[in-house]
Amino acid sequence: MEKLPERLNGLHHITLTTGTAQGDINFFVKILGLKLVKRTLLYDGGEPVYHLYFGNSKGDPGTLTTSFPMRRLGRKGRVGAGQISSTGYAVPIGSLDWWKTHLSKHGIEAEEQHRFGEDLLAFRHPECGLGFEIVATDKAKFEPYVSEYVPAEYSIRGFHNWTCTVNEFEDMDDFLRNAWSMRNVGEDGSYTRYEMGEGGPATYVDLDYQPDLRQGTWSYAEGIAHHGAFDIADLETQSALKFDVEGLGFTDFSDRKHRGYFESIYVRTPGGMLFEAAKTIGFLVDEDEAHLGQTLQVSPQFRDQVPELLARMNDPIEL
Ligand SMILES: [Fe+2]
Repeated sequence: MEKLPERLNGLHHITLTTGTAQGDINFFVKILGLKLVKRTLLYDGGEPVYHLYFGNSKGDPGTLTTSFPMRRLGRKGRVGAGQISSTGYAVPIGSLDWWKTHLSKHGIEAEEQHRFGEDLLAFRHPECGLGFEIVATDKAKFEPYVSEYVPAEYSIRGFHNWTCTVNEFEDMDDFLRNAWSMRNVGEDGSYTRYEMGEGGPATYVDLDYQPDLRQGTWSYAEGIAHHGAFDIADLETQSALKFDVEGLGFTDFSDRKHRGYFESIYVRTPGGMLFEAAKTIGFLVDEDEAHLGQTLQVSPQFRDQVPELLARMNDPIEL
């Protein structure tokens, strides 16, 4: 496969299917110390489901974890291959002891690991079981959100890496290096690391090769990652990426979708994970910075239905 020109800049956001809205507020805001930067609704399908965005103070691309709390629909995901199995955040070197104690105080058991020369803690979302890591690094690129729950010196500074678990290696390796124009930067046990753009934290994708693992769920279903989005500068570049990736035979690329705060295209990768290339519009289109995440934002045609939608979701949020 030929290598396409580099058009993607780094990790933009990850979207997870979780349990309840309050469970996500408790975990992402009150334990991990992220800011709730937007509360809106899932754009797909007819049933209202929250779409919650967590990140640093402005919700910079590269810091954004988003969730669909899906428990009330009764769909449970099966963890397996073909999924983003772990979301990794960057924290300063020297902060892991504090994090281990902090997580333990909240009943979360964290395992100390060492990978690609870096120390990390691995743990799970206490409500839906999704995998997370915090990785100690002095190369993080983002300003942290100053939260009342985590001292600034230890705060999360955007993404470090995402781990994709695959039961076939070669085709996804080929896709990452050539279609997604990433660079292989090394191997560690079952893991192979790739980076893009200027490299380093918030550009890493790790493949974890697990040949005996069964395929996991792809639908919106509690306890799995739905997709990972990569940053792309503008719509022209996005169109060129789609044109060329389709030319390699990956023709199951979506049309451009307007997601309110991004314009996005999606492709099902040969490893099974759904990848997105997102052009940022930003979070200030419907509320100012001081009020980000405070109230439910819906597109104009739904505005008079907000009380009804909230009642139907029956998934209250207390910040
Ligand atoms: Fe997305």
